[in-house]
Amino acid sequence: MAGGTTGIIVAAGSGERMGGIQKAFHLLLGDEMAAYSLRAMEASQDIDHIVLVVASDSVEKAKLLVSEMGLCKVSAVCGGGATRRESVLAGLHAAPDGSEITLVHDGARPCVTGELIARGVAAAREHDAAVPAVPVQDTIKEAGQDRRVVATPDRSRLYAAQTPQAFRTELLERAHAEAPADLVLDDASLVEALGEPVHLFEGDAGNIKVTTPADVAIVEAILRQHDNSAPDEQGAGS
Ligand code: CTP
Ligand code: MG
Repeated sequence: MAGGTTGIIVAAGSGERMGGIQKAFHLLLGDEMAAYSLRAMEASQDIDHIVLVVASDSVEKAKLLVSEMGLCKVSAVCGGGATRRESVLAGLHAAPDGSEITLVHDGARPCVTGELIARGVAAAREHDAAVPAVPVQDTIKEAGQDRRVVATPDRSRLYAAQTPQAFRTELLERAHAEAPADLVLDDASLVEALGEPVHLFEGDAGNIKVTTPADVAIVEAILRQHDNSAPDEQGAGS
């Protein structure tokens, strides 16, 4: 499948900051959180295969969700690991061989759009490793343990990284294999650790991550807007 693309959705976290729930199955406007990312990737012409990574004890439940949704592109549902990095690696192992481009997306970002996915695939084709990012709005302070400020970096150079992060598959696989084992930040940081260039592409301010209960109402408001403004993204023909 030369030129193919795979989207890995990692949704195997334990949602500690949400009070210890599996966010993947948390209902937003009546649908499981993971369902939104699955639907966006299924509807995207830029994605050929989807791999869904969930907590090991929820693989059967996730398979049921995939079959109830009638998705065609999901080639694997597998169990994740103790860290996000391990979960991504499990997804890479479960992915079909030969995909040229792999996107890694947080299941906890249900507001992802087809446009953002398309920008990611295009950016990976051009730059090999690419991260959606938005300029930070707040002034950022760096402080020590004692909370004494040590630096105020120039905000015009600061961006908040999002997902889907997009890569040539072979580069992402090499980064996971070769980056220091204690590096458990995002996927792009593993590529950076190899000394390979990573590019930013235009993220989406609405593509926020559900991290705490306070995020739920914000995300539901954004999802409602998607519903009203882009009916074709909610499953063509239905
Ligand atoms: N993730 C994962 N496997 C892990 C940890 C995280 O697949 N072992 C996924 C989460 O499911 C989520 C994404 O990585 O979609 C971003 O992580 P985060 O928002 O931190 O989710 P959780 O780790 O579940 O939340 P918390 O850190 O509050 O426990
Ligand atoms: Mg986490």
